[in-house]
Parts: sequence; C-alpha cells; structure tokens
Amino acid sequence: MPDKVVKVGLIGLGTVGGGVAQLLLEKQEVLSQRLGAPLLLAKAVDLDLARGRALGLPEGVCTADVNAVLDDPAIDIVVELIGGLEPARAFVLRALTAGKQVATANKALLAKHGVEIFAAAREHGVGVGFEASVAGGIPLIRSLRGGLAANRITRVLGILNGTCNYILSRMTSEGAEFGEVLRAAQDLGYAEADPTMDIAGHDTAHKLAIVAALVTGSQPELEAIPVEGITGVTPLDIRFAREFGYRIKLLAHLRNDNGAVEARVHPALVPQDHVLASVEGSFNAIHITGDWVDEVLLYGRGAGRRPTASAVVGDVVDLARDILAGCPGRVPGLGRAVADGGRLELAPINQAICQYYFRVMALDQPGVLAAVARALGEHNISIEAVTQKGRQSAGPVPVVMITHEARESDVAAALAKINALPVVAEPTVVIRRI
Ligand code: NDP
Ligand code: HSE
Repeated sequence: MPDKVVKVGLIGLGTVGGGVAQLLLEKQEVLSQRLGAPLLLAKAVDLDLARGRALGLPEGVCTADVNAVLDDPAIDIVVELIGGLEPARAFVLRALTAGKQVATANKALLAKHGVEIFAAAREHGVGVGFEASVAGGIPLIRSLRGGLAANRITRVLGILNGTCNYILSRMTSEGAEFGEVLRAAQDLGYAEADPTMDIAGHDTAHKLAIVAALVTGSQPELEAIPVEGITGVTPLDIRFAREFGYRIKLLAHLRNDNGAVEARVHPALVPQDHVLASVEGSFNAIHITGDWVDEVLLYGRGAGRRPTASAVVGDVVDLARDILAGCPGRVPGLGRAVADGGRLELAPINQAICQYYFRVMALDQPGVLAAVARALGEHNISIEAVTQKGRQSAGPVPVVMITHEARESDVAAALAKINALPVVAEPTVVIRRI
C-alpha cells in the first residue's frame, strides 16, 4: 500500500453520521484494501461528545470543535452530516475552499445552495459526493452522472421519501393511524429532524430539484416546484383508490420533453399493476426513461441509518480514489464539464395534463351527479369511472370519480364550480393519477 493515509473528518454523529462512523471503523481493513491505501476516520465532531463515546470511537477522535476538522490540513475528506442550511453551508464551503473533498447527504442544502457549492468545488479543484442525498442507499446519482450519461433523460418518476412511503404503506395495509406511523418512522431514523419536511413533501422536492439539475444541467428554484404532501391523504381515499385498482404514493415527477421541463411533487394514484405500486415501507424506487436506454428502474432502501451510511461511505471511497489518483474533482458535481449555472425554468403546472381522482362530498339528492357532471363537461373533462356510496347518515355522501386526461387549469375551474354548488358540503378531494 502507498504511504498516503486518507484521513476523513466527520461532522455530525446522529442517525446517519453515527452509522458512517460505525461503518468506517467496522470495515476499515476491507475499505483500505479496496482503496489500496489506509482509510482513517481521523476526527468526528458533534455538539454532544457523549455520542462519540457511545459509538466507541477511539480516544482523540471525538471533538466538539468543528475547526479541528476544517482547519486541519491533514484532513482530506470532510463528511457533512449535521443537516439543515446553516451552519452546514458554511462548513461545506470552508472545506471546499481549503481544498478538501466533501461528502454530504444534505439534500436541503444542495437543493437550495447547490449552484454555489458546485461552483466552489470547481473553483478549488475538488469533488462533492452526494449519493445519499437522494433515495438513501440507491446509487441514483452515480447512475445519472455515469451509467446513463449517454442519454437525454426524458422522464423520471420516483418514490423518494422513505418516511411518506412507510406511512402510506402502513395506512394501506393495516389501516394504521397517521400520527402513530409517523412516530414509528421517527423512531426508525427515517424522518428528518423536522418531520414536516417529509410529510409536507418538501424533502421530496429537495430531491427532485437535485435530480432535475442532474438531468438538465441547471437547477430550478425550489419555490418553483409545486409541492403537495401526504397530510391530506385519508383512509377513505386510500380505500376508494383501492376499489378503483390503485395505490396512493407520494411521487416526484420530472418530464423533460420538447424543450419544456415539468417538475412536481404530490400524492398520486398508481395503478396496482405498475411497478411503483409494489414499493412498500421505507423502500424507494426511481423509474427513469432515457432516449437510448429506454426504461430503467432503481430500487432499494431510501432512508435509515445503514442504507444511508452505505451511500455516504461509497462517496468517501470514490473521493479517496480520486485523491490517490491525483485527480480530486475529476467528476463535476452535475456530471458536466461545462457548468450551466443558470436557473432551470419549469413549465407552469396549470398546463399539465393527467387523469384525476375526485371525491365530492355531496348531499344525497336527485340531480347531484348531473350537476357535477355538467360542471366537468363545461371544462372539457370527461369521466372514466364513477361510484356513489349510499347514504349511511343524514350527512353528505362521497361521489368518487376518475376522469380521463384533463388539463390542470380546466380541473381548477371545474372544481371551483363544483365546490360552489349548494349540495356540495366540503371541498372536493383531488388526487392526480399517473
Ligand atoms: P440527526 O439529527 O440524527 O443528526 C445530526 C447530528 O449532527 C446530531 O447529532 C446533531 O446534534 C449534530 N449537529 C447539529 N449541528 C451540529 C454542529 N453545528 N456541529 C456538530 N454537530 C452538529 O440527522 P440525520 O443523521 O438523520 O441526518 C443527517 C443528514 O443526512 C441530513 O442532512 C439528512 O437530511 C440527511 N439524510 C438523512 C437520512 C436518514 O434516513 N436519516 C437519509 C438521507 C439523508 P444535536 O442533535 O445535538 O443537534
Ligand atoms: N427523511 C428522508 C426520508 C430521509 O424519509 O426519505 C432520506 O432522505
């Protein structure tokens, strides 16, 4: 083995950071063999020193002082696993400016400040590994930057949030209650420090922004991605969706056709025989269409300590290889030697076309279905299937329908009319269908 020891400085010893520390220690020998040089966890920083002690890290490795990593010229690779925007952004930029390679799982950071971070890496001739930032243990970033580099990617459809998929799976299979399953997802280490990021769809949007940047070469403004989470998905809608032959999943959509790019995040009805319908629990899956490869499906654990640590350590090994080969920064952040740096314009969602599920809560009176159908017809929306459940109480009853393909702006106009009907008791539930 060469004399060079590749030294890693780890910042953050929580769910993922703790896993990375364990993995680097447990597999130090085999990783060093694969690398052809010793790979050493030299420093591990956390606000709470007890975390490092609980992991059994060697004497002298743990510190609460981040400067022990960022200012030490002997540290080759900095692994940022504290999450959030600041001080994570400042730490990453300091590391890059000091000529260190960086690995991070921080999708919120890259979705917001990716342009700045990739530019800094380029300027200082170093690399950024971010495999764990999208879809946990699945090697998606590598696939988009490398294996699929010959393709124009025209469509990506992904289940990218383990927490939401776990919640929806258990609500569907066991009728479990939302709050209870969310707590279980937190206990299992799937959820973000603020789980609203997961259930409101923002975490999926962060990941979609990163995927969009890899696919197109430029990053969208986060605020430009329409986002709906899963908090409005009810057991009733899960049941009706099943009756019609669908599962409800939180999906990230990217379409890159005819010069227009559509990106959006929302719950969707997935036909039961579609490959994404059977992705359960904390598993993620990404269905990619490329102009030469045709269709590719990637599947694996999307969240949790071990799968995510696996992806981070994979990045560490790649970054170390580039150091040993004398070419840090060999692979540009977005896999393109010519940086775009501009912002990606997204097509407005009101022009999107898809099928829809509506649940109209209406009084059980003659003429209701006709009134609803009239409002839809006035906006060019036709119905593929409909069911009305009989009256069980004096209150409104659900009228559930699946439409043929319709334009989002037409759907919004028709729903405004439907919701204003005196017989409609509450706002209509709308879920798009893939
Ligand atoms: P945790 O909250 O479990 O871990 C973060 C750790 O960093 C905590 O121990 C925290 O201490 C510590 N920390 C916070 N600020 C500092 C600081 N300034 N200096 C030193 N240590 C600090 O988060 P996760 O491990 O779950 O997530 C880490 C990153 O990985 C996030 O970006 C997340 O989005 C991403 N990720 C997480 C996945 C998962 O399955 N959990 C999967 C993929 C990506 P304290 O708690 O005291 O604040
Ligand atoms: N909170 C995220 C999820 C972690 O549940 O998918 C993985 O990015």
